[in-house]
Amino acid sequence: MATSAPSVSPSPVLVPHAGQGGGSTAVVGLQWGDEGKGKIVHLLTESHDAVVRYNGGANAGHSVVVRGERFALHLVPSGILHAGVPAIIGNGVVIDPDQLLKEIHTLESRGVDCGNLIISDRAHVVMPWHKAEDEARERWLSEGSLRPIGTTKRGIGPCYADKVQRGTAIRVGDLVRPELLRERLKVICPLKTTVLAALAAPGHPAEVYDAQHVANQCAAWALQLGRHVRDTSALLLEMLAAGKRALFEGANATLLDVDHGTYPFVTSSTCIAPGIATGAGVPMNVVGSILGVVKAYSTRVGGGAMPTELAGELADYIRQRGREFGTTTGRPRRVGWLDLVAVRYAARLNGATGLSVMLLDVLAGLDELKVCTAYQTPQGRVDAFTPDGAWLDHAKPVYQTLRGFSGDLGSARRLGELPPGARAYLDLIENVVGVPIRFVSVGPDREQTIEVA
Ligand code: GDP
Ligand code: IMO
Ligand code: MG
Repeated sequence: MATSAPSVSPSPVLVPHAGQGGGSTAVVGLQWGDEGKGKIVHLLTESHDAVVRYNGGANAGHSVVVRGERFALHLVPSGILHAGVPAIIGNGVVIDPDQLLKEIHTLESRGVDCGNLIISDRAHVVMPWHKAEDEARERWLSEGSLRPIGTTKRGIGPCYADKVQRGTAIRVGDLVRPELLRERLKVICPLKTTVLAALAAPGHPAEVYDAQHVANQCAAWALQLGRHVRDTSALLLEMLAAGKRALFEGANATLLDVDHGTYPFVTSSTCIAPGIATGAGVPMNVVGSILGVVKAYSTRVGGGAMPTELAGELADYIRQRGREFGTTTGRPRRVGWLDLVAVRYAARLNGATGLSVMLLDVLAGLDELKVCTAYQTPQGRVDAFTPDGAWLDHAKPVYQTLRGFSGDLGSARRLGELPPGARAYLDLIENVVGVPIRFVSVGPDREQTIEVA
């Protein structure tokens, strides 16, 4: 008797979802932050169905200029400026509710609708004690013999530490479960009061955290933010399965990545593209294009090595032209020549499929331009980057010198409209990094962009 073969239903794991296989895009900074990611995200949002932050917190400062109007975004994804596109804050972000509410109010007062803002219930809440601890730890480091990190004091490190340590962390989803939260705060508040008291110093008294007071504060946050809270991973998986495309907005940058940056002078999250999978709750293969954002020179805020750092008049010239003052803290940014050893490392680490070169216009007017293409180290000349603060302290840049270019680049809309010196500068970047340039930005406004065919 013939037996029919048992019918095997295909494993769901082996069946690709519609929308998987790379329709989505990542925008990632390839230096120490402030590369101009916000501008590029704003530009690309219109060709995507959602914009998603997956890491960092209010340490980020993304400036977007729309028709001459400047917006500074810290927690809200830059795509919010496009009406109708969901702006998602993923689970990998740490959220300071006061800061977020301030941002929402400012945006709404300027006519930006924040109804499309969606916040992950699994994102962690930056509590007052996180900011106090950030401040106190930086003080301890600077008063001791260690260099402080130079953090933004937004409570980022202590909040991520609590997340990993578990028991005492608070997630956005906890805010909307007040009874449970009230009980937990009865334990957390005395513990945090004790920890902060241990870090107190003359002139820097520690705060006492009262569970009732904090619970009321959390209730007020929940009241205002509750309608935005969802399981954003589930939402994204649904959207991607329906063939929609997401735009993932990196915050901070590759050289600040907690594992692969210039440790210990880094932030506390996974800034690189692989952080999207965990920080947004989506499979890795949804991201097909990884756009590495590169400033045409280097900047850095806070401590840590920066081999190509400049001082004096040249640094001032670039700082003034590029408005290199922090969007988050207002600190003057450290400025240096373009470091292609670092950028090539970052491009490879992220698997960048294209580059976006920003602020090229800032370099106009200089007689000559230097670009670092190797380092001289105690072990000899190297062209590979080692992401270690102590190693980098001893790396001296080896430069290639190019003739400068002049003129107002801000009106160029095609590569052919750039001065030959500027094109030679771009060629050098593309050749050394080995990744094609997709965009060249010649001014803060979205129109001031050259899309390379
Ligand atoms: P992000 O953190 O990577 O989003 O970068 P920031 O917004 O902190 O810093 C980039 C700064 O450069 C902002 O003030 C932008 O408005 C500005 N910007 C972006 N692209 C250009 C450009 O091509 N030329 C000039 N001059 N400014 C630019
Ligand atoms: P965007 O998204 C520039 C730096 C801080 C400090 C270090 C650790 O605007 O590019 P933290 O507060 O995160 O613990 O600080 O990281 N840093 C940034 N620098 N741009 C950023 O974000 C940054 N986010 C963090 O200056 O040196
Ligand atoms: Mg910034």
